[in-house]
Amino acid sequence: MAENTYSGYGSISGIYDKINSEIDYPSWADFIETCFDKYLTEKPSLLLDLACGTGSMTLELARRGYDMIGVDGSEDMLSVAYDRKFDEELSNILYLCQDMRAFELYGTVGAVTCCLDSINYLSGDGDLQKCLFCVHNYLDPDGLFIFDVNTPYKFENIYADNSYIHEDEVDGRATLCAWQNEYDKGTKLCSFYLSVFEEDGDGRYTRTDEVQTERCFDRAELTAALESAGFEVIGFFGDYEFTQAADNNTRWYIVARAKK
Ligand SMILES: C[S@@+](CC[C@H](N)C(=O)[O-])C[C@H]1O[C@@H](n2cnc3c(N)ncnc32)[C@H](O)[C@@H]1O
Repeated sequence: MAENTYSGYGSISGIYDKINSEIDYPSWADFIETCFDKYLTEKPSLLLDLACGTGSMTLELARRGYDMIGVDGSEDMLSVAYDRKFDEELSNILYLCQDMRAFELYGTVGAVTCCLDSINYLSGDGDLQKCLFCVHNYLDPDGLFIFDVNTPYKFENIYADNSYIHEDEVDGRATLCAWQNEYDKGTKLCSFYLSVFEEDGDGRYTRTDEVQTERCFDRAELTAALESAGFEVIGFFGDYEFTQAADNNTRWYIVARAKK
């Protein structure tokens, strides 16, 4: 069994879906299915959602009839994903707790998705390459890898050194998440300092702190890494409409094909 050396996404898992409630997963899934129509000769039946988190995309694709494997390194995020799967009584999802730099599957899949800047979490030297080799290894010949990244424009101009507060209510209890960014243009690393305050029910709050790190990748780095792992880059897009990527996009959607 592959070793899971990833530790992150603990304190935030309970409020993660609230913080990201504006993400339009159905439109994103439409983009993924359009990629299947455009770039594959046959619709795939088994997909891997890598760094699936609480399973928003995994569920969306499972509802559309695909057999899904969801891999994530955080037990806390996967625990939310399991609850959501049972609530919907879906039997076509297998969740595995593994590190995306060294995961193992039982066989190959027709396509791999990796959503919401999970690739930027590959912040250590060589991490991106390790992950891409694993993805390539478990893709069918000509299978697609469809993922997105936060762009250099977003790290430099939007994350920068900004801070945010997110206040909400989960299961009737108040929660507050304070989130401070620190982006270093030299190392291309962005640290997110997160503090989550959760109401205990007796007026007191429990505070948990977490530091997350994302790495900024430019287009040339991503292209070189994909090609050296055995992929052909099909396109960098700026939206779900397949508009060519631009420097001032905040997110790029990237489609690559595994050459074998
Ligand atoms: C921003 S969240 C995205 C989750 C999900 N894809 C979504 O659309 O909501 C990033 C996810 O990557 C996972 N992650 C980060 N580094 C990882 C690693 N090395 N191995 C496995 N999972 C990792 C985190 O646990 C987290 O669930």
